[in-house]
Amino acid sequence: MKTRITELFGIEYPIIQGGMAWVADYHLAAAVSNAGGLGLIGAASAPGDVVRTQIREAKKLTDKPFGVNIMLLSPYAEEVAHIVVEEGVKVVTTGAGNPGKYMEMWKAAGIKVVPVVASVALAKMMEKAGADAVVAEGTESGGHIGSATTMTLVPQVVDAVEIPVIAAGGIADGRGFAAAMMLGAEAVQIGTRFCVAAECICHENYKQKIIKAKDIDSEVTGRSNGHPIRCLRNQMSREYLRLEKEGAGFEELERLTVGSLRNAVIDGDVKNGTVMAGQIAGLIKKEQSCKEIVEEIMEQAEKLMHC
Ligand SMILES: Cc1cc2nc3c(=O)[nH]c(=O)nc-3n(C[C@H](O)[C@H](O)[C@H](O)COP(=O)(O)O)c2cc1C
Repeated sequence: MKTRITELFGIEYPIIQGGMAWVADYHLAAAVSNAGGLGLIGAASAPGDVVRTQIREAKKLTDKPFGVNIMLLSPYAEEVAHIVVEEGVKVVTTGAGNPGKYMEMWKAAGIKVVPVVASVALAKMMEKAGADAVVAEGTESGGHIGSATTMTLVPQVVDAVEIPVIAAGGIADGRGFAAAMMLGAEAVQIGTRFCVAAECICHENYKQKIIKAKDIDSEVTGRSNGHPIRCLRNQMSREYLRLEKEGAGFEELERLTVGSLRNAVIDGDVKNGTVMAGQIAGLIKKEQSCKEIVEEIMEQAEKLMHC
């Protein structure tokens, strides 16, 4: 299936794996790229040398294009912005801010720049700043979220910009993929389903929490302080929401969640850690290799789209 995104990134299938903090390391990114999609290393708040090592390890596992997701609020964002150039990374996706100040440098290096947006206004601003594409991410997604749903956001962004749009949020199978294409997207970005991929380093407890989740098992914490995060309900989310209701300040809430995603992803503490995952977790029933996931989605989507 050819779209402007497959052409832009030089990939076989228009499936991007979200650059997820702690979850998306080089194993997952390389496996998705080897499966014909685009794998992303999630740089999150990692120091530059860690990201450089991740990129080099990914290159040992794949000769296909892969990318890096840079959280612009990270204290290491500037450092990582230069490292992706030095290491010859092909695609950079950005979150939590405006990548404008790096645009010239990245463009000169031939890097495709793809900001993640949750509104039409931001999509237009990113296009103006020189973005090659945008990820329009709906509130169904796991992790940090905006307020518009994928169903409403994607077609509005598609109408507002000329650059290709990648749909994210609530997509986990061929039906979701086909629906996104009908909304005008030219690729999908998937996070939650790749958390349970065989090649993903997520702790088994984290994968099982997603696999056992039902449709209404996700919750949004942080609405009161302007940092909404979608995660699966557990002791941590209940405690967080209780404190929010009682009017706890940002610092108190921050203290509760410091290191909590790592605790869940790496140590497997899915009670007291933060289990970021999207509403589509209820649809995900088993662990599969990235190749199986990508091929299953494409096969189902192609059948649907040709009938
Ligand atoms: C555990 C987890 C961590 C995430 N971390 C990041 C991140 O660091 N940067 C980012 O841009 N998106 C992050 N996301 C969002 C994903 O990249 C992707 O856009 C989203 O998961 C898509 O929605 P879905 O979960 O419904 O598939 C994260 C998502 C999850 C589930």
